[in-house]
Amino acid sequence: MNSGLEDKIRKLVKKEGSPLMLISKEALKKQYQTFKRHLADVVPYYAIKANPHPEIIKTFVHLGSGFDVASAAEMELVLSLGASPDKIIFANTIKSAEDLKKAYKAKVRFMTFDNEPELYKIAKYAPGSKVLVRIKVDNVGSTVELSLKFGADPDQALFLLKKAKSLGLNPAGVSFHVGSQCVNVENYQKALEISSMIFEEAKKIGIPLSILDIGGGFPIRHFDDDNHITFKDIARLIKKKMRRLFDKDVKFIAEPGRFFAGPAGTLVTQVVGRTFRNNKNYYYINDGVYGDFSGMIFDHCKYQFRSLRRGQKFLSTVAGPTCDSLDVLSLSEDLPEMDVGNIVYVKNIGAYSCASAVPNFNGFKPAKILMV
Ligand SMILES: Cc1ncc(COP(=O)(O)O)c(C=O)c1O
Repeated sequence: MNSGLEDKIRKLVKKEGSPLMLISKEALKKQYQTFKRHLADVVPYYAIKANPHPEIIKTFVHLGSGFDVASAAEMELVLSLGASPDKIIFANTIKSAEDLKKAYKAKVRFMTFDNEPELYKIAKYAPGSKVLVRIKVDNVGSTVELSLKFGADPDQALFLLKKAKSLGLNPAGVSFHVGSQCVNVENYQKALEISSMIFEEAKKIGIPLSILDIGGGFPIRHFDDDNHITFKDIARLIKKKMRRLFDKDVKFIAEPGRFFAGPAGTLVTQVVGRTFRNNKNYYYINDGVYGDFSGMIFDHCKYQFRSLRRGQKFLSTVAGPTCDSLDVLSLSEDLPEMDVGNIVYVKNIGAYSCASAVPNFNGFKPAKILMV
C-alpha cells in the first residue's frame, strides 16, 4: 500500500539526507476539497498554527481558503503571502494591545473574544470590529482540551454581546471549539444546540446574529487501525443540525488546522544508533520530541512508526537523538530488525509537529521541509 511512497522516500533520503518533513501539495488540496464537499455551506479559515509553512499558506490562498491567525505575526505572514484582510479571523481570545493595533491598521477587523476586559481592549485599539463571542463547550474525549483555558460560560454570552454593542463593536455571532482531534460527535451536537439558543435569545433582545464559527477539532487518522468516527460522519451530523437549528441567512465558518495540514505531512528519519537492552531493541533516530515529534508533548499525539525494512517484528523502543530521557518516542513498537542508517517514517504528521519544534536543542535541527 505504501510502496510508491517508500520508493520516493528512499530516493529523497539518498539525495537530501534526513530528517525530512515531506509535505504533499496534493494532500493539502485533497483535504481542502474533502472539507468543501462535505461541508459545502461552511467557509474554512485554515488555522495556520497547525503548520505555518509559507508553501502551505500559499496553497490555501490559491484554493480560496480563509485563515485563522493567533497573533499579529501570523496575520502578517498570511497577508504577505497573498491572503486578503477580509479572509482573516483573529481567533485568539486574548490579544495584546500592540497586536490589535496592527490588526486594525491591516484592516483585519474580524475576531473572537470570551471576556469583558478583552472587549474594552478591542473597542479601544480596533474600534468597530466584528466580534464573535467564544463560548465554553464540552471537549469530552478530544485529544487536546481547549475548554480548560478558553470560552465564556454560555450564560454570559448575551451579556457580553450586549456589552460589545454598547462599546460600538459589531457583535456578529458565536464561536466554539470542541477540542482538537475531537472523536466525540456529541461535543459538536451540544455546541450547536447551545449556540442556536444564544442566537434565539440575542434576536429577542435586538442583536440579530449572523455568523456561527464551529472552530476546528476535525479528526484525522494517525494509525492504520484507528476506528474512531471520521470527518465525514461528523460533517453529516453538523450539516443536519445546521439546517434544523439556524435560520437560512446564518453564515457558517470553521477553523480547521489538523484536518487540513496533518495528512499532508510525512516525517522521514534514520536510525543513528541501536542497542539491545531490557530484552528489547532500542533504536535511536535522528528526530525527537524537541524536533518534529514535539506534538507528542504539546499535542498529546501518538504516531505509528514504519520501517522500510521487512521481516519478523520485535518489541522495540524508539527514541530521539538528544541527551534528554524525555526524548523517548515509544517504548513498545513492533519493528523489524534494523541497523544504523535504516529509514523510519511516520505518516499524517503535518500538523502541530514542525510548527512547535525547537530550532537547535542539543544542536539537533528539525527536519528539512520539502514540498513534494
Ligand atoms: C482558536 C482555535 N481555532 C482552531 C484551532 C485548530 O484546531 P484543529 O487543529 O483541531 O482543527 C485551534 C487549535 O488549537 C484553536 O485554538
